[in-house]
Amino acid sequence: MGNVKELNHPLITHKLAILRDKNTGTKEFRELIGELAMLLCFEALSDVKLEDVEIETPIEKYKTGKFDESKYAFIPILRAGLGMLDGVLSVVPNAKVGHIGMYRDEETFKPVNYFFKVPKDIENKTVILLDPMLATGGSCNDAIDLLKEKGVKNIKFLCIIAAPEGIEEVNKKNSDIPIYCAHIDNHLNKNKYICPGLGDAGDRIFGTK
Ligand code: PRP
Ligand code: URA
Repeated sequence: MGNVKELNHPLITHKLAILRDKNTGTKEFRELIGELAMLLCFEALSDVKLEDVEIETPIEKYKTGKFDESKYAFIPILRAGLGMLDGVLSVVPNAKVGHIGMYRDEETFKPVNYFFKVPKDIENKTVILLDPMLATGGSCNDAIDLLKEKGVKNIKFLCIIAAPEGIEEVNKKNSDIPIYCAHIDNHLNKNKYICPGLGDAGDRIFGTK
């Protein structure tokens, strides 16, 4: 299904089952979003180019590889994307962080942008865009467009749940951007919520409803 990579592992299914359950509380929900984000980050960064280095272990010299973490920027789409930030930073702690504020209009389902702040020199970094939910794809596409306008050339999008409709929309408008998700769900309902999904990710992460 186009430029998308779905994590396929029984432990992911197990964690998603707890995450989706309407009886799972805010604390556990937030922890699981963080863990899944960390696992997605491992997959998305499997193409990192290492530079040759020689280090010295307490036993002997050793030729190995390292990379410059500051060449990466994590950019959560507010609010729900913030829930993924600690998880990805636990993998690449020296990455830079930006923020894109967006909410979906409840009637039109179109994204409204209200905040944009990214690290300097962003055009020379690989941006890892974070949002747990890819529903219609509008928010993701708009965030990608804002980043491309700033000259960003390398973008990857990480989400927990993706709807086929959203994947198709992002693949159509931004076919160069790889999507990494923990699961591709069935479809969107008439309110453009993902089915079976997990409900409103932002409300469940922050306990606002
Ligand atoms: C949710 C979600 C995405 C967007 C996905 O945000 O976190 O940003 O909807 O929908 P789309 O693919 O149809 O654009 P929401 O608007 O609920 O804002 P919030 O994160 O502030 O709760
Ligand atoms: N945003 C959410 O938080 N959940 C959905 O199912 C769709 C959009």
